[in-house]
Amino acid sequence: MKNILITGGSGFIGSNFIHYLLKESNFSGRIINIDKLTYAGNPENLISIEDEFKDRYSFFKVDICDKESLANIFIKYKIDAICHFAAESHVDRSIASPEAFIHTNIIGTFNLLELARTNQDHIELFHHISTDEVFGSLGDTGIFSEDDPYRPNSPYSASKAASDHLVRSYHKTYNLPVTISNCSNNYGPYQFPEKLIPLMVLNAVENKPLPIYGNGKNVRDWLFVNDHCKAIWTIMQSGKRGETYNIGGNTEMENLPLVEMICDILDDILPENGNRPHKELITFIKDRPGHDLRYAIDFSKLQRELRWKPEESLTSGLQKTIKWYLDNKDWVNHIKSGEYRTWIESHYS
Ligand code: NAD
Ligand code: DAU
Repeated sequence: MKNILITGGSGFIGSNFIHYLLKESNFSGRIINIDKLTYAGNPENLISIEDEFKDRYSFFKVDICDKESLANIFIKYKIDAICHFAAESHVDRSIASPEAFIHTNIIGTFNLLELARTNQDHIELFHHISTDEVFGSLGDTGIFSEDDPYRPNSPYSASKAASDHLVRSYHKTYNLPVTISNCSNNYGPYQFPEKLIPLMVLNAVENKPLPIYGNGKNVRDWLFVNDHCKAIWTIMQSGKRGETYNIGGNTEMENLPLVEMICDILDDILPENGNRPHKELITFIKDRPGHDLRYAIDFSKLQRELRWKPEESLTSGLQKTIKWYLDNKDWVNHIKSGEYRTWIESHYS
């Protein structure tokens, strides 16, 4: 794979993946990142990459729903592989305004698949990034495996489920070389502070309430983002075309103890902070509609067939993540003040 097209590379996982590919992996080719730069896309995530890898990294502000701009990328570069991250990703936003999720996650994925199909003579791989949420919700027991039926419960997960089905169909019908990965909840650097972990860290530091939906007993399986990046690259290199791989952290936690863990770490590393103990900021609020109770993911196929397993423990991953948010005050302030949007508007108007 010489030229990899990455969609949504300016978001949380996409930007971590670009850092990983260029700085840590055996990849020696070129990355073309296309991203619409919605509220979740932040060019600041890749500033060091733009400087350090001028000859191996290019960025284009492109909406995957815009077929003509997408086609121009395929004319300009001989794309060998596509790694498709671009999506509307936040469940709460999908409940409030589902439309963008349908456009980007379904139509956008369809547009990319069509371009891959029409350039099929030199496309080695279309890797589609998806979520464990397509499988729905578990009760107190059970674990999602690749063969489980899809039972999405939010407009977000329904749109991701639709996109997974389209990708699968392009393999079965047109023999497009695809792989799909369904991953559990990620956390780590560059995550937009609307998601649970960065929201709780930044609120706690600022002495703001820590809003827990419902009773705080919902369970998620947490994975450090760099482990996800390693899994994706493993699948892209060695995964069997046409197959789906589950990715998880083997780290199930209820939301309340997870937030308490964040508070304890902050108590330790900010001994001078007047907000200690941070746990006192926890507030229970109205539950998310259709809130999935529990996710747990069986990644034994990936472990057995491709020898991947998560390396970071939840404690060390959380410590690294919290330290990153405390050390990167400019990144945080540019998001909070909206300065990152002003920068985007002045550069891409
Ligand atoms: P994110 O919201 O941080 O980033 C999404 C990126 O996609 C942003 O840069 C945004 O600007 C871009 N984008 C949105 N609409 C676009 C469009 N129409 N055209 C081009 N670019 C567009 O999301 P994330 O958390 O990094 O998630 C990335 C992918 O991983 C998504 O497909 C998501 O479903 C999947 N996923 C996320 C998690 C998680 O825990 N965050 C877990 C499993 C799977
Ligand atoms: O499972 C993978 C999915 O994980 C990804 O596909 C999604 O893109 C990603 O956003 C994430 O979805 P969740 O809804 O699980 O993540 P979120 O961080 O929004 O919420 C995690 C849990 O915390 C969930 O049970 C809801 C709860 N929560 C969330 C927020 C933002 C709260 O209790 N309070 C909050 O303020």
